[in-house]
Amino acid sequence: MTLQLAGFVVLMLLQSCSAYKLVCYYTSWSQYREGNGSCIPDDIDRSLCTHIIYSFANISDNKISTWEWNDVSLYGTLNALKTRNPKLKTLLSVGGWRFGAERFSRIISNAQSRKTFIQSVAPFLRTYGFDGLDLAWLYPGPRDKQDFTTLIKELKAEFTKEVQPGTEKLLLSAAVSAGKVAIDSGYDIAQIAQHLDFINLMTYDFHGVWRHVTGHHSPLFRGQEDTGSDRFSNVAYAVGYMLRLGAPASKLVMGIPTFGKSFTLASSESRVGAPIAGPGLPGRFTKEEGTLAYYEICDFLRGAEVHRIPGQQVPFATRGNQWVGYDDLESVKNKVKYLKNKQLAGAMVWALDLDDFQGSFCWQNGRFPLTNAIKEALAAP
Ligand SMILES: *[C@@H]1O[C@H](CO)[C@@H](O)[C@H](O)[C@H]1NC(C)=O
Ligand SMILES: *[C@@H]1O[C@H](CO)[C@@H](O)[C@H](O)[C@H]1NC(C)=O
Repeated sequence: MTLQLAGFVVLMLLQSCSAYKLVCYYTSWSQYREGNGSCIPDDIDRSLCTHIIYSFANISDNKISTWEWNDVSLYGTLNALKTRNPKLKTLLSVGGWRFGAERFSRIISNAQSRKTFIQSVAPFLRTYGFDGLDLAWLYPGPRDKQDFTTLIKELKAEFTKEVQPGTEKLLLSAAVSAGKVAIDSGYDIAQIAQHLDFINLMTYDFHGVWRHVTGHHSPLFRGQEDTGSDRFSNVAYAVGYMLRLGAPASKLVMGIPTFGKSFTLASSESRVGAPIAGPGLPGRFTKEEGTLAYYEICDFLRGAEVHRIPGQQVPFATRGNQWVGYDDLESVKNKVKYLKNKQLAGAMVWALDLDDFQGSFCWQNGRFPLTNAIKEALAAP
């Protein structure tokens, strides 16, 4: 064997052993769900994910700050998971839906307040034992595109400068919309991808009540009825589009939801594309119209009719006038197969607290059944 070929073989072996990322979001407000819905970082299996991202942090006086009254205590519990699993990385996500895109825009567009923010990040993360920052600016608009790139570049430079001997460089990731319109208007993908360690692509929420008919919110592939701009509303399109825009596969982490999107049917029709009267009824624990946690779906499935959508490789279930599109053990396995075929960096889960984290709702599938199925599929040869 020539030296060159030997080197190639070693490289291939190294690559085939390289572990995929399993990036898992945890939301601090899940602690307030009642009874068995309440989730605190203590409930998280420390060897489940490679990265756990705590959502969300605030920005106050232009500096990163806590959101919940007991964040510091929860940060402590989360980061203590690392003493028993030193390979686990934790990140803190700043922003989110309730933060407001406008507020993000105001802070970041001004050079002085942006600098204040950037300088506040590393000391805050180090104080509480995080390994990195995740940006959840939902979503930058056309006027923010350049500012978002600048923010990422400057944060990266700051993290590089901040490394001390004996510490590891802080990680930097961003949660990025998977909608084509939002991608086109808010992100310079090739630029931001250069400076981010990884990109958490939010490949879900593609379909909602605004469409006035039933449809799955996170289908792997385009559906038979998806014409016009609907043909962009699936995981495969978003992944392919990101790759074409210059996101390296090795930095792209594909989102898989542990929640479903539900609708109230307007008639006895219950196929995909059936008319709806509005969002589905709120779940017993999550109490939000139109969204159900996987553990609530497991309850819903008792007495429901389950169908798989041909071609889209995801299930939906109906019971009475309720319709829910969700992911199950089979669909997450197919999604992982897909991302491995594309040689992506791994899978992202939104969110740990929406999976059956106690293992008390979804039959005999144990704790975190969906996230565990993703983990197993990532590890499979
Ligand atoms: C929580 O789950 C356990 C195990 O399934 C059950 O025994 C208990 O009643 C539940 N608690 C509440 C408050 O629902
Ligand atoms: C976040 O920070 C802003 C600005 O200081 C503040 O007005 C807001 O109340 C904070 N949000 C929470 C949940 O603490």
